[in-house]
Amino acid sequence: MSTVSLKYKDESWDFRAADTKEYTHCFHTYPAMMIPQIARKLIKQYGKESGWLLDPYCGTGTSLVEASLFGMHSVGCDINPLVRLIATAKLTPIPLQTLDRELNRLNNQLFQVEFSEKIPDAPIPDILNLDYWFSSDLIRYLAFLRAWMGDVEDEAVRNFILVAFSEMVREVSYTRTGEFKLHRMPAQKLENFKPDVFGIFRKKLNRNRQGLAAFMEKRKSVETSVSDANTAQGELPLPRPLGGYDLVITSPPYGDSQTTVAYGQFSRLSAEWIGLPNARKIDGLAMGGRHSGRSELPIATLPERTLMDSPVSSDIEKIRSVDEKRAREVSAFYIDLGHSINSVAKMLSPHATICYVVGNRRVKEVILPTDEFVIFAFCQHGFSHKETIVRNIPNKRMPKKNSPSNIAGETATTMNEENIVVCQRTTHHRNF
Ligand SMILES: C[S@@+](CC[C@H](N)C(=O)[O-])C[C@H]1O[C@@H](n2cnc3c(N)ncnc32)[C@H](O)[C@@H]1O
Repeated sequence: MSTVSLKYKDESWDFRAADTKEYTHCFHTYPAMMIPQIARKLIKQYGKESGWLLDPYCGTGTSLVEASLFGMHSVGCDINPLVRLIATAKLTPIPLQTLDRELNRLNNQLFQVEFSEKIPDAPIPDILNLDYWFSSDLIRYLAFLRAWMGDVEDEAVRNFILVAFSEMVREVSYTRTGEFKLHRMPAQKLENFKPDVFGIFRKKLNRNRQGLAAFMEKRKSVETSVSDANTAQGELPLPRPLGGYDLVITSPPYGDSQTTVAYGQFSRLSAEWIGLPNARKIDGLAMGGRHSGRSELPIATLPERTLMDSPVSSDIEKIRSVDEKRAREVSAFYIDLGHSINSVAKMLSPHATICYVVGNRRVKEVILPTDEFVIFAFCQHGFSHKETIVRNIPNKRMPKKNSPSNIAGETATTMNEENIVVCQRTTHHRNF
C-alpha cells in the first residue's frame, strides 16, 4: 500500500494558541519538547483507560504526564539523568502540606541570608571551568542552596526543589539565552549581569507548586516509572505489563546530538551542580553518538534486511557522494533508531498503536525521510501504516533558521514542520 495518500497536513494539530504550560508541564524547559496537546489528542484517539503507555525517549515526560491525566499507566526511558529527574518530579504527587512546610522552611532561610547580606559558607562542587560560567558571588549562592537541598529528607520534595534549582542554574549562568549549546555571553554583558538568584528561584518554586497542585487534582491513580533503559542498545525498561504496552507516544531525537539538538550541553551545568552522573557524556551516549564507521548493521529482525533496504538508504548514498564522514554519522543514527524500534516492538501488545513525532532533517541539501524510516522499521514487526499527520511547529522550542550545530550546509528549515507517524499492529507477530 502506498504511504503517500495516508500522509496529510492538518493545521488543527498546530495548537497555535494553546497553553503548553498547564499542570506540571510548567516545571522545566528543555529543547524540542513535545507540546502536551499533541500527546493529549493522540491518547484520546488511541489510548485506553488503565492501559499502558511507553515513551522510549521521554525527555521531561510530556506524554507520561498526559497519560496520568487521562488514566493510563506509563513508563518512560531516557539516557539523560537530568530529564529523568524532571520527569519523575512532574509525575510524583506530594501532599501539599508537606511541600508547603518545606518551602516555608526554605523561604525563611533565604530571608535570613538576604537580611544578613551574608552568604553562609558551603562546599563548592568540583566542576570544571566553574568560574568561566558563574560569577564568584553566584557560585557561593548556588553552593549554599545545594547544601541546603542536600539536607531535605523527603525525596519527592527534594526532587521538586532540585528541578526549580536546575532551571534557575542555567538562567543565572553566563550561557547565552536562546541557544542549546554552551556558549558564553559576550564579554561586555558579563559585568552587568547580576541575576537575582533567590528571586528567580522563588518564582520558579511558586509556579511549579501551582502546576503540581493542578496536576494532583486532575491526575488518575496510575502507575508511572522513569527508566534509564537505552532501547538502541537492546535494553528494555521495567515494568513490562502483561500482554505488552498498548500505546507508544514519543518524539525521538532528530539526529545525533552533535549535529542536531545538543541535549547534553543544554543539561550539563545543572546536572553538574546537582551531581548527576555522566553530565559531560550525554551527547555521546545519545542515538547516533558513536559513529565508528559502521554503516550496514542489520536493523530488523530479519537478518537479511539492512539499512541498505530502508527508505533513507538512497539519501545516505547521496550524502556519501559529497561527504563520507557525514554519511557515516547519519547512518549511525538510523542504525540506532532501527535497533531501538526493534526493542520497542518486542514490548508491544498484539493490538498496539505507535505514534512517533519526527522531523525530516536536511543534511547536505538532502532531506532524510525519517517518517518513512519509522514506518518501514515497524512494518518489519507486523505493523501497518495508519496515517502521518504533518503539522507546523509554531511553539516548539527549536532553532528555526540556523542549525545549532553551526555546520555549514545544514539548516533547520525543514524543522518548521514535523510528522506524527501512526502505525497499528495488524498481524499476529511473535515477539519473544
Ligand atoms: C526530542 S527529545 C524528547 C522530548 C520529550 N518528548 C519532552 O517533551 O520533553 C529526545 C530525547 O531522547 C533522548 N535520547 C537520545 N538518545 C536516546 C536513547 N538511545 N535512549 C533513550 N533516550 C535517548 C534525549 O536525551 C532527549 O531527551
